[in-house]
Amino acid sequence: MTSLTILGIESSCDDTAAAVLRGQIGDTQVLSSVVLGQTELHANFGGVVPEIAARAHAEKLDLCVLQALNEAHVSLDNIDAVAVTAGPGLIGGVVSGVMCAKGIALAQGLPLYGINHLAGHALTPRLTDNVPYPYLMLLVSGGHCQFLIVAGPDQFQRLGGTIDDAPGEAFDKVARLISLPQPGGPAIEERAKQGDPRRFKLPRPLLDRDGCDMSFSGLKTAVLRQRDSLVQESTLAAQDQADLAAGFQAAVVDVLAEKTRRALELYVQLTDTPSICVAGGVAANMAIRSGLETSAAEFGADFIAPPLALCTDNAAMIAYAALEQMTTRDPDGMGLSARPRWPLDQTAPAMLGSGKKGAKA
Ligand code: KG4
Ligand code: ZN
Repeated sequence: MTSLTILGIESSCDDTAAAVLRGQIGDTQVLSSVVLGQTELHANFGGVVPEIAARAHAEKLDLCVLQALNEAHVSLDNIDAVAVTAGPGLIGGVVSGVMCAKGIALAQGLPLYGINHLAGHALTPRLTDNVPYPYLMLLVSGGHCQFLIVAGPDQFQRLGGTIDDAPGEAFDKVARLISLPQPGGPAIEERAKQGDPRRFKLPRPLLDRDGCDMSFSGLKTAVLRQRDSLVQESTLAAQDQADLAAGFQAAVVDVLAEKTRRALELYVQLTDTPSICVAGGVAANMAIRSGLETSAAEFGADFIAPPLALCTDNAAMIAYAALEQMTTRDPDGMGLSARPRWPLDQTAPAMLGSGKKGAKA
């Protein structure tokens, strides 16, 4: 395979992103990766507003692409293929990205690849660490939570996932409940350092059930009940806040670590060199990481966490997924359409309600 230069575009939730990637499988360089966030646009609404997101993507995509080309020191004439997130996600944003990518591909006469956003996350460990197939992937973000066995550029087996909230979403909601700022994950992790994780009895949902499915919404409700009983007695003291943060985080760690053990049990039968990889913003949490590392060590598996900028939403992962998928399929071309729902593993039963905040991963 010769070296290729690929333009990637991502706009499926609240980040407008473009990136330029150069190389071949096993030897790829990220020449640029631009991510323009929209946090302040949605700050007053308690979540991502799809119409506002779509408009912001439409306004910023061309600038974002231009910035990515400039930072990579290339022009459109140096690009060999265009890759764009074609789903799953908020449909207005996905359509904006797909239209932008089609325009560039048509004008330049380039092959166009529509990429599944989750495939982008799932293939990132190959971009960053050349992890050999098959590996186990845990996606944990504000909108997604699932275990996947990644066996090829478009071969994904879902072992289980959340049946309600994603963990990042639960961190954000719990932070709101105990008056900590957004995003809730880093705020809870920081406050938890001063807290006693054992003061409040909080549930570890679905640990009594076989398999790798998870649930975080009941845990959030349990924190709400504890908070309400504390607030009835007096105001929520700083120590109460820290103990609730620590208790909640410890419960999430326990659930993820135990479900990871179960996923590893199934996966390690497939390979002599097992690796478990993580992606998504929640993977930034050190307590969660160390829980996952312990589970990995019990099974003799390598633990791989790509650098955070490539763990969270970005367009380099979309360009890279195209580089991999070029070896297994034809480009999509102008018939490409945006898909709000697009499960990676078409054979797995439908997820009930993962990602109420929006289809992020
Ligand atoms: O992957 P990401 O940047 O965006 C998507 O959801 O796609 O993940 C953001 C989520 C937020 O819910 C945020 O609270 C959570 O990741 N997060 C964390 C931490 N840092 C970010 N959760 C727990 N601990 C953290 N340190
Ligand atoms: Zn994502």
